[in-house]
Amino acid sequence: MMHIRGIFSILLALAISPPLFAQTVQSKPGATAAEVQAKRASPASARTASPGSLAPLPLKPAPASSHAPFEAGDCKICHQSADPKQPGPVVKKGPTLCLECHEEFAGVMKRPHTHAPARGDCTSCHNPHNANYRKLLLQEPRALCTSCHDAIAKIVANAAVPHKAVTSGAQCTNCHNPHGSTVEKLLVQLPFDLCASCHNVDTMIDAKGKKLQNLKVWLDNNKNWHGPVAAKDCSSCHEPHGSAHFRLLKEDYPPEFYAPYDPRTYALCFSCHQESAFSTAQTSTLTSFRNGSTNLHFLHLQQSGRGRTCRACHEVHASKQDNHIREGVPYGSGGWVLKLHYKKTASGGSCEKTCHSEKTYVNKPAR
Ligand code: HEC
Ligand code: HEC
Ligand code: HEC
Ligand code: HEC
Ligand code: HEC
Ligand code: HEC
Ligand code: HEC
Ligand code: HEC
Ligand code: HEC
Repeated sequence: MMHIRGIFSILLALAISPPLFAQTVQSKPGATAAEVQAKRASPASARTASPGSLAPLPLKPAPASSHAPFEAGDCKICHQSADPKQPGPVVKKGPTLCLECHEEFAGVMKRPHTHAPARGDCTSCHNPHNANYRKLLLQEPRALCTSCHDAIAKIVANAAVPHKAVTSGAQCTNCHNPHGSTVEKLLVQLPFDLCASCHNVDTMIDAKGKKLQNLKVWLDNNKNWHGPVAAKDCSSCHEPHGSAHFRLLKEDYPPEFYAPYDPRTYALCFSCHQESAFSTAQTSTLTSFRNGSTNLHFLHLQQSGRGRTCRACHEVHASKQDNHIREGVPYGSGGWVLKLHYKKTASGGSCEKTCHSEKTYVNKPAR
């Protein structure tokens, strides 16, 4: 998983060709402690100010950020000597050097979840002198993070459905604290609150320009929450980094109102709900959406090759009615909402003035 380049490949690259060195480091400047070590052990002549090196950058063109103690010009603040030509080794190893001034980080690094490279060496991500990126970063944040996180890099690069949260603003650090957090996976907030902190506006649109629901308001107004939503686990259905499936879903789910029945296209729902409840024509046990033993799930999903998808009847996040039956469903691309007029009755339920005139089903034996 972790992509850690050995000391030797770097030393070898150094020995063979300096330009290759620059290129190698540029493609993976999120240097590991081993690489920092490797660079330190390398001959002084190789310490050109390549983006991956920890040496000070040339002052022209002006770096994007510069460290206050470096600006002060006294190398001895951190190195053994004040001579900028020969500052010698640093006086303390690892984060200890940094924490001496950045006292607030002592607290951050005591949080229940801390980031391995921050425990190891702050210079895995920061140049201690100056840098071409904000906050002394060795690389622009997403490239920095994905230089070590191969699996996430692949998800982001190959996502048919990308997530703007990952690609805009602070990118990875919109959601993760690079140093330490009280929340698992270094999240900056509890996962549910994190999602809700952005999905709380009426103006959000997807990549195709389609308006997205204000989920925060929807959840506030519809108190009957679907199991995994009530468990505050948005990630049980959504992949936050990017996905091959509609709406960043972890598994397939048909994007349309009508779709021919194929269990694979409902892999999302069937990862938690039993598929046989939808594919068995006659049953008196598998589902309550039946008239006697006629399975109405089967009928609606599979009828005449023009099945209605779950969204025709169910809200997936939260609803006002039981069984997450919706009040209305967006129909067509014009934004028109088809009212459902569903009624729960003592012995089953009824639906009228929807796709058909009133129809009633009975799923309990007459008493
Ligand atoms: C805030 C602390 C700090 C200050 C101030 C500082 N350095 Fe450094 N410097 C470091 C750290 C940390 C390293 C990483 C290498 C290490 O751990 O030995 C380093 C490494 C270097 C390297 C070697 C880079 C490499 O690729 O091995 C050079 C050259 C250097 N510093 C020059 C200077 C000069 C010149 C000054 C003064 C103008 C200066 N530094 C001031 C912290 C500092
Ligand atoms: C001698 C004190 C001192 C030491 C040692 C020190 N820093 Fe700093 N650092 C500062 C000061 C002062 C600032 C500016 C603070 C501010 O603007 O609020 C700063 C700012 C920063 C910033 C933010 C830069 C920006 O552009 O906003 C980063 C990142 C940083 N330091 C990382 C480090 C790392 C990594 C180390 C250890 C290699 C380190 N510091 C060691 C004093 C120090
Ligand atoms: C995995 C990469 C990574 C490591 C390791 C790391 N940082 Fe950072 N650091 C970042 C990123 C990314 C930011 C910018 C966060 C943002 O504002 O989006 C940052 C920001 C900072 C800032 C500026 C904070 C601010 O609010 O302006 C300081 C200071 C800092 N880091 C110090 C440290 C210290 C000290 C260590 C070692 C204990 C360390 N960092 C280790 C990635 C890292
Ligand atoms: C120098 C390599 C390196 C860089 C750069 C790096 N990481 Fe990591 N990250 C690691 C390692 C090592 C782990 C621990 C992996 C493990 O335990 O499987 C880790 C773990 C994580 C975890 C999981 C934490 C947990 O508790 O399970 C998250 C989230 C994460 N990193 C996010 C980021 C983000 C965001 C960035 C960019 C700001 C980043 N990483 C940059 C090396 C890196
Ligand atoms: C929209 C918020 C968000 C953004 C932006 C984001 N992540 Fe995550 N990330 C999450 C959540 C939520 C989890 C936990 C997922 C879970 O538990 O299934 C996570 C988990 C992770 C993990 C741990 C994976 C594991 O299997 O343990 C890593 C590593 C990680 N993210 C890295 C990144 C990197 C790198 C970026 C930037 C390219 C990034 N994340 C951007 C929300 C985000
Ligand atoms: C049980 C699985 C599941 C869970 C849990 C879940 N979602 Fe969804 N989400 C879906 C499905 C399925 C869709 C597509 C709905 C449709 O188009 O009919 C969707 C759509 C969305 C959309 C797009 C809405 C639109 O207007 O088209 C957003 C935003 C969203 N989910 C965010 C979240 C957030 C935030 C959470 C956590 C509070 C969450 N989801 C939890 C399954 C889930
Ligand atoms: C930093 C803000 C931010 C955070 C945090 C965030 N989102 Fe988003 N999300 C967006 C934006 C902006 C869009 C619309 C643009 C796009 O399609 O990515 C979006 C789109 C989506 C979509 C629809 C994607 C599509 O194109 O169909 C889903 C689903 C979604 N987010 C789920 C989540 C979940 C789940 C979380 C929590 C893990 C989350 N978001 C956290 C900003 C955010
Ligand atoms: C991560 C697991 C998970 C996934 C995925 C999932 N569900 Fe559920 N679902 C549950 C749990 C747990 C319950 C029971 C709690 C409740 O009533 O919400 C439930 C209940 C339901 C109910 C109401 C049953 C009742 O007794 O009230 C409906 C309807 C439903 N799910 C539809 C769907 C649809 C449609 C999908 C696919 C878009 C889906 N579910 C995906 C876990 C899941
Ligand atoms: C034509 C409307 C309709 C469609 C389409 C539909 N459902 Fe239902 N579903 C219902 C009704 C009505 C109930 C409530 C039955 C009762 O308890 O009276 C129900 C109940 C459920 C339940 C509760 C357990 C049960 O079977 O009684 C689950 C889970 C469920 N549906 C999941 C789904 C999934 C997953 C899909 C898509 C694969 C889907 N439904 C498609 C109308 C529909």
